[in-house]
Amino acid sequence: MNITIIGTGYVGLVTGACLAETGNHVFCIDVAAHKIDLLNHGGVPIYELGLQEMIARNRAAGRIHFSTDLAAGAAHGDILFIAVGTPPDEDGSADLQYVLAAARNIGQHMQGFKVIVNKSTVPVGTAQRVQQTIAVELAARAVEHSFSVVSNPEFLKEGEAIGDFMQPDRIVLGCDNDQNGVRAAEIMRCLYAPFNRDHKRILQMDVRSAELTKYAANAMLATRISFINELANLAECMGADIEEVRRGIGPDPRIGNHFLSAGCGYGGSCFPKDVQALIRTASEYHQPLPLLSAVEAVNDAQKQVLVRKIVARLGEDLSAFRFAVWGLAFKPNTDDMREAPSRILIAALLARGATVVAYDPVAMDEARRVFMLDLQNAPAAHARLSLSEDPMQAVAGADALVVVTEWNEFKNPDFQRLRAQLKKPLIFDGRNVYEPAEMSELGIEYHAIGRVYEGF
Ligand code: UDX
Repeated sequence: MNITIIGTGYVGLVTGACLAETGNHVFCIDVAAHKIDLLNHGGVPIYELGLQEMIARNRAAGRIHFSTDLAAGAAHGDILFIAVGTPPDEDGSADLQYVLAAARNIGQHMQGFKVIVNKSTVPVGTAQRVQQTIAVELAARAVEHSFSVVSNPEFLKEGEAIGDFMQPDRIVLGCDNDQNGVRAAEIMRCLYAPFNRDHKRILQMDVRSAELTKYAANAMLATRISFINELANLAECMGADIEEVRRGIGPDPRIGNHFLSAGCGYGGSCFPKDVQALIRTASEYHQPLPLLSAVEAVNDAQKQVLVRKIVARLGEDLSAFRFAVWGLAFKPNTDDMREAPSRILIAALLARGATVVAYDPVAMDEARRVFMLDLQNAPAAHARLSLSEDPMQAVAGADALVVVTEWNEFKNPDFQRLRAQLKKPLIFDGRNVYEPAEMSELGIEYHAIGRVYEGF
């Protein structure tokens, strides 16, 4: 099939590459000429495992093209995916200006029947707005082309996006039940047939339910994290171990083991933004969501948990101390630092006068960019932050190590060397990467999240 993807961000590129991989002819469009230029020269503007190779393979086979020419894009695709960003507005609601601009462009250029797919995470009712926007443009051109807008939310996890796309646990298709909607649904089912494992993955429903499904999934997952984090803080006061509690509740199939790791809070491009947007949309319907407001508040507080522990141990004034920070990305296997807990931690340490040496296996370039912005009004603090290309070098001479992201390479370091490099054998672990008993044996003072540590 001929596919056009508008927006070469994270979702757009993964969708484009995976659809090209299954033999479709894919045109990826973006208004950002520098991104298209990079892609046309074999580069990829984001880091995602396996993506660069997949794009290269399909470019070589002539199945994927990159361009800024939306008119050509609108002509090419039988299916046009809108995969542009929906950043939070000042009030937390999703900013739809890029989605609606894409819809206008489609309306200005499309010919013949088109399936328009909302892939961006958008509030309930957006498919209808896209539909109306395209209709206005068609009317302005005095042409009649039929089309249908489908909601097809993505459930991709950064770092695992290709696997998630190729072997989805579900494919949600929100379609209208009029004639164009039925036609669109058939086309979408064909497109996704190669991914519809055991013929059970496609879940067709009405458009609004599909739109809400995406928010419901992320809100549910965020709720689990805030729940376990709240209990971790309680466990700590009570002398219980949250890892044991998790082991104790996980076997109940109604609860399950997954997505219940206590830590220093969730970040990333989706959970914070989507929880906020859902609260905002709900308020427009005069239906407050106190549970989700609490989920958000608990997470904001949890992003400070490491700072609280450090201050409790070393005092408010940290100007005499130097901290090594391992992990800057919001989670492993990505260079994404959006809403990353590391940013809150590092800003708080610097504000208390500390010196910080940080290391991340992949996010170093991103970190330079992000901290330039975060600390632009605090040059003296910025001067006390440095980035090290080597984890052991970062630790050399530090008063404490703070682990913020659970990259595999942090899981089993040479502890003797680590201990020798640190000025004090002191670790604050925001992701419960190590075992407290082992740390005791190694003679390392260890502060984790909701765990029992007996000292050494
Ligand atoms: C998420 C959803 O999982 C995905 O379905 C959706 O499409 C986009 O948002 P992503 O943002 O890539 O994906 O990250 P995810 O792996 O879900 O982790 C989100 C955050 O939660 C991370 O900061 C992670 O560290 C944190 N987390 C996750 C926990 O603190 N505890 C857990 O048990 C799991």
